[in-house]
Amino acid sequence: MFFISFLFLLNLFLSPYCIIKSKNDWVDKSMKSSKEIIYNYHKQTKHRPYRYARSLGYLDWDNEPNPFRKFQGAEPIHLPILPVKFSPPFHEALFQPEHIIPQSIHIETISHFLLHSLGISAWKEYRGSRWAVRCNPSSGNLHPTEAYLIFPLQLLNNNHSLLLHYDPSEHKLEKRAIMTQNNWEKQGLTSFAEYPCFFVALTSIIWREAWKYGERAFRYCLLDTGHAIACLTFSALSLGWNIHYIGISLQNLSISLGLNRPEYTHVEKEFPQILLMVSPNNIKQEKQLSFAIKNPILFDEWFGIPEKISPQTTDWDIIEEVSSAIIESSEEFYSSFIKAPTLSEYKDKYLPHISTFTPSPPSFDLFKQRRSAHALDINAMLKQKDFFQILKGINYISHQLLRKIIPLTPRTSLLFFVHHVEHLTPGIYLYPLCQGHFEKLIPSCFKEVSKVENEDNLPLFLCQEGDMRRIAGHLCCGQEIAHDGVLCTCIFTDLEEELKNYNGFPYAPLHWEAGFWGQWLYLESEIFNLRGTGIGCFFDDEIIRIMEGNKKENLLVNPLYFFTIGKPIYDERIKTYPPYSET
Ligand SMILES: Cc1cc2nc3c(=O)[nH]c(=O)nc-3n(C[C@H](O)[C@H](O)[C@H](O)COP(=O)(O)O)c2cc1C
Repeated sequence: MFFISFLFLLNLFLSPYCIIKSKNDWVDKSMKSSKEIIYNYHKQTKHRPYRYARSLGYLDWDNEPNPFRKFQGAEPIHLPILPVKFSPPFHEALFQPEHIIPQSIHIETISHFLLHSLGISAWKEYRGSRWAVRCNPSSGNLHPTEAYLIFPLQLLNNNHSLLLHYDPSEHKLEKRAIMTQNNWEKQGLTSFAEYPCFFVALTSIIWREAWKYGERAFRYCLLDTGHAIACLTFSALSLGWNIHYIGISLQNLSISLGLNRPEYTHVEKEFPQILLMVSPNNIKQEKQLSFAIKNPILFDEWFGIPEKISPQTTDWDIIEEVSSAIIESSEEFYSSFIKAPTLSEYKDKYLPHISTFTPSPPSFDLFKQRRSAHALDINAMLKQKDFFQILKGINYISHQLLRKIIPLTPRTSLLFFVHHVEHLTPGIYLYPLCQGHFEKLIPSCFKEVSKVENEDNLPLFLCQEGDMRRIAGHLCCGQEIAHDGVLCTCIFTDLEEELKNYNGFPYAPLHWEAGFWGQWLYLESEIFNLRGTGIGCFFDDEIIRIMEGNKKENLLVNPLYFFTIGKPIYDERIKTYPPYSET
């Protein structure tokens, strides 16, 4: 009796600690909500100066993943590589879409669309090793992103609806599955076939990133997806096409793409990311299209077997957990999205006029020219008008475009570490895209701020003056490119606040959004004869320490991604070759 009472008292005494403990790492997995799992994943995969996120710690070259997945036995459809007949200036395609003549959808235009978004842009060679670079960048050039197209019936005179996998190595489509007209109608998809349109779905083979980066890999897959979404968007706009997000739960997207089918049992899994719809922008819709698909799209017949990309893989439990949690939380998001599946555009806010934008090169040349810088010239400078052009573009995209393509956006803001921008005092500048960030961040992080006067009244605030080169370099794991650029930027959010919604699902769109900004910064850098590099290696919590205000609440600044811009120093030893034999 005494013993039982003793245990009871002991339990009472310890219970507050047990509760605290259970909120963190030790709780039984089944007891945690998706939101907790996702938040915990983010915490556990932070890099710290003396403790990086967990990874193997060496590169297991015997199991290096193949960057190209192929489906053995799937019928190939080779896409023609023809000279580009239309390629509007990039800024015109983006800011004046109504001026772009919409190209009709056929095999040639689809070929251009994919070639200039996810296709190979060059082969590189150094000391006997060769590697491909693509229009879309990827952390470590590991390219976890896979793309699938769904063609409704008759789009290309096809008698069946088709599910096709894109293989950039040979610029071809692989026929994965077909569906009869009867079945398409039975599944209530007819409204999508009334207009010329097709779908693009993105997935990630997380193992490709995990091979090198271990537990942090899931973040990189989300960021890479954001880059790929931006590449598809910019390529579509250059063809006079619209691109829209389609709400479908990730579980249903997975079933639609066959990712749970038996042929995946012995190969590396693919994580479903997003479904987009593409259609020419002159299509007048008599009735408002629904932007949601309630059930999985069920194909009738499947072809091909996915090839393994590594002889052996290493499992990272935390990645399994977080990817399941995102899929689960997506149900909660989609069930509310389905009630009002329209994506309104903000027309009411600031709308920059195209004439105020600098001239830009033809879109498709620009997309193929984009590369990451590996070393930067510390003496370079960015013109002030070019800096404001970058900001204007971000403002325009966040108000006019992004919400159609990525749900729940914009929910990030940018902190700029300005090193050398004409007429701007070096220091930290805040460019808030969410009002909440401005209101909460300023009082808690910075002593005093001043608005930077500019003719477009853009919301840019000088928060802290000083030479930030050393700090930016330190924040980015000591990488010199962050120190030597003309500027470095941190794309951040208030993660705790955002993850309160939809059981943590916003974790995915927040990273897609950050990746989208990264792609914008890559392309703008090229336009100004500079070069950018995305930076996924950063010390997550160090940013708090460098802010003058430095209070506990500063934890609301959660960096998702960094980006640096500068004048590239080329490595002449690396040789460049054309992407495909036809070009
Ligand atoms: C999400 C992401 C994170 C990246 N992180 C880094 C980084 O921390 N350091 C770096 O030097 N490059 C980084 N990069 C650049 C990639 O290594 C580069 O995109 C890749 O090697 C392909 O080269 P390309 O951009 O020239 O096509 C990153 C790129 C992406 C998309």
